[in-house]
Amino acid sequence: MTEADNLLVLDQAMRRRTIAVISHPDAGKSTLTEAMLLHAHRISEAGAVNGKPGRRGTVSDWMAMEQERGISISSAVVQFEHRGTIINVVDTPGHADFSEDTYRVLSAVDSAIMLIDAAKGLEEQTMKLFAVCAMRGIPLITLINKWDRPGLSALNLLDEIETRTGLLPTPMVWPVGAAGEFRGLLTSGIDQVTTYQHTVGGSTIAQETPIRPEDATQALGQDYATAVEEDALLAATGRTHDTALFLAGQSTPVFFGSAVRNIGVRTLLDALVSYAPPAAARVMTDARARPVNTDFSGYVFKVQSGMDTAHHDRVAYVRVCSGQFQRGMILTHAQTGRPFVTKYAQHVVGRERHTLDTAWPGDVVGLVNASSLRPGDTLYAGEPAEYPPLPRFRPEHFSYAQPADTSKHKQFRRGLEQLNGEGVIQVLISPNVGAHRPLLAAVGPMQFEVVAARMQAEFHTDVTLEPTRFTIARDLAPGIAPLLNGLRGVEVTTRPEGGDVALFEDRRSLAAIERAHPELDLAEPAHQ
Ligand code: G4P
Repeated sequence: MTEADNLLVLDQAMRRRTIAVISHPDAGKSTLTEAMLLHAHRISEAGAVNGKPGRRGTVSDWMAMEQERGISISSAVVQFEHRGTIINVVDTPGHADFSEDTYRVLSAVDSAIMLIDAAKGLEEQTMKLFAVCAMRGIPLITLINKWDRPGLSALNLLDEIETRTGLLPTPMVWPVGAAGEFRGLLTSGIDQVTTYQHTVGGSTIAQETPIRPEDATQALGQDYATAVEEDALLAATGRTHDTALFLAGQSTPVFFGSAVRNIGVRTLLDALVSYAPPAAARVMTDARARPVNTDFSGYVFKVQSGMDTAHHDRVAYVRVCSGQFQRGMILTHAQTGRPFVTKYAQHVVGRERHTLDTAWPGDVVGLVNASSLRPGDTLYAGEPAEYPPLPRFRPEHFSYAQPADTSKHKQFRRGLEQLNGEGVIQVLISPNVGAHRPLLAAVGPMQFEVVAARMQAEFHTDVTLEPTRFTIARDLAPGIAPLLNGLRGVEVTTRPEGGDVALFEDRRSLAAIERAHPELDLAEPAHQ
């Protein structure tokens, strides 16, 4: 690399913010994404992204099932620019159910926005996603949304964040007026208020008017005085932004707004530019960190097939970790040592695709027809690189599967092999039952529906699923399986790719075996 190339990559990496929005369904993630695109002038009117039924257009949905239910099963990537900074929003599936995909997507981001509905506070899925972010040390910016309608008090919401997540909430703006009586946003510590004049339906950017502190009392009365008082109280108790604490995942800057009215969205985007971490050196399997300004490297965080059923295609999403990606480059696939030609690189947003010619650290590249790539695989140029495998999450739902029509056994096997490779579902074989009736293991039950829909659409095979009573899985160290065989309340299975997995009905049956055989290490493994 020449010195000039080196500086160019560094500069591009510094300009990247790769984020996810974590929230409970209906908190307003799609609306916020749309509002951000509107601010970035990527769309001229809101209403183009959301995949909910009955809404205009769809960018982020692709599957019939997804459209029917208005949920986003697949993750798309939305890229836009704000104040000279490129923001990549990697979409996490937004339904109440969970899949491994949800978690994997979070491995590809450098920070996240925790979006909270002002009327509901921290909801279940937000907490689950928060736990994954906390585990991976992903810094979080909080946006309390829907301030245009009645909700909890701002102080109570902060209190809830602090007690339930352990993060120190540091307000960057403070609302003037309670939820539902929104009058403006006070910039914390400055006492200046911004008022907003939103347009009908929030379809265009709300006009902002700054009000100086000396004019605010007259304009906003008691609401202003209350906001100033509360803001001062929070500052006096140490709840002020500290970049080091935020980057260490110990505090969260808090914003208020209304995505549907485009209020507070610009402030949030400014914060991403100013505070969110840029793409930085990533740690490899050998514990060395690969700087961003070196040869290209990236890893696959998600593989998706069937987006275009007519072509049976398969897209591998690669997060660029270092160097410049150029379409046509010949890379090395770290897992096999084989060359990988990147002729068909695309920027994929749902069904929309654009050929992508170049990408930088922090960006996401969609490699089409990448049948040899699996989630977690590394691609590199020049100096070898290999990133650690993606964490596998413990499945909690298990069903036996077989083809409804036994003559379709070959397609059935091929289909499951593919879905297992993609990580859509984990396939386990019970020696007692046989490979013709494998066990499917999922983190969330909706994964079974996705399997059934994809087996039908892509492999023309109807699958019959029979739920089991197992709820706990433990990966077994080599040599342990024979010791468990034949014990009551446990089923020993194997993965087609190697490795043994023991299944238990419940904690009691697991505990009973642990008591009877303390020599077997069946402790819950820590998440990576
Ligand atoms: P999601 O992707 O997180 O599931 O949420 P989505 O953006 O689809 O928003 C869920 C609902 O919340 C939508 O209403 C949306 O309009 C509304 N919403 C989002 N942000 C705000 C906000 O700041 N204030 C208010 N008052 N509502 C907001 P819906 O009834 O499901 O759809 P629609 O009838 O509005 O299209």
